[in-house]
Amino acid sequence: MVTPKDIADAARALHEGKLVVMPTETVYGLGANALSDEAVAGIYAAKQRPEFNPLIVHVADIDAAEKLGAFKGVAKRLARAFWPGALTLVVPKTPKCQASRLATAGLKTIALRVPAHPIAKMLLNAADLPIAAPSANVSGKLSPTRIEHLQGLDDKNISAVLDAGATEVGVESTIVACNGDKATLLRPGGISRADIEKVLRAPLGTQKKSNKPNAPGQLESHYAPKASIRLNVSETAPNEGLLAFGAAVLAHAGPVRNLSPSGDMQEAAANLFSFLHELDAEADRIAVMTIPDEGLGEAINDRLRRAA
Ligand code: TXA
Ligand code: MG
Repeated sequence: MVTPKDIADAARALHEGKLVVMPTETVYGLGANALSDEAVAGIYAAKQRPEFNPLIVHVADIDAAEKLGAFKGVAKRLARAFWPGALTLVVPKTPKCQASRLATAGLKTIALRVPAHPIAKMLLNAADLPIAAPSANVSGKLSPTRIEHLQGLDDKNISAVLDAGATEVGVESTIVACNGDKATLLRPGGISRADIEKVLRAPLGTQKKSNKPNAPGQLESHYAPKASIRLNVSETAPNEGLLAFGAAVLAHAGPVRNLSPSGDMQEAAANLFSFLHELDAEADRIAVMTIPDEGLGEAINDRLRRAA
């Protein structure tokens, strides 16, 4: 049983940047403060994820969702019809969106959901924070519908586990991307296509697989800076920004951001998208020092190669 003290402790842990396993009506989530890059980096470390997928940000209600994402047209209709519930809506970030750039993997859109589970609701209200939470499984394993399924997560940063028994829906939320009057199904899940189409009074679009990832009108699937990117550099040019790593930073006259002076991979992951974003605004080209493939380094290098 989850007590009010458990909720209060978990809310405090979130404010301290720690991880909390929380039930939702779909599956258990591994939650962190969605406003903090450092806290969100802990999720990837615990899941041992070889890549940074954008995460679902859970909020208490539509008002809280509207601080982070822009709800117009179909997005508003779907939110009113299905929240709280097993529907995640991908919408454009608001200009003032304070969500961690790591949580959204640098995208201009954000995935938002208001969960219906009473414990998730209590935690969101007690913490008064948006909670970024992927399913609480190790990368590549099935999503957990009960606490016994959590095995394998690296639990050194997990401060609280809220055990509320088996989850009701048992499959993950349905994900729909909303763009003006267009709604596209990204992942089938707890709410059926038919139920969504009944509200839309139109068929849901299906995502086209394209090898041009950021074709106009299509959903961006990964972060693409305007600046061109050079990887594994051993020297820099004057018009570049330098994305550095470790103690031995290359000599460079232009803008520099160091992902982690001490060589800490979790710190580097936390800084990755924010620093890329800043350098993108300050330079036409970004030179990236070599980053070892250890731990979260693999995910960092994967994202840098895709951005390059
Ligand atoms: O039921 C659920 O949805 C569970 C519970 C905990 O809420 N969460 C969950 O999260 O399944 P996760 O991280 O395992 O799956 C999130 C999916 C990923 O496939 C990701 O690519 C997609 O959401 N996603 C997140 N943000 C996105 C965005 N801005 N654009 C497109 N897809 C996005
Ligand atoms: Mg998952």
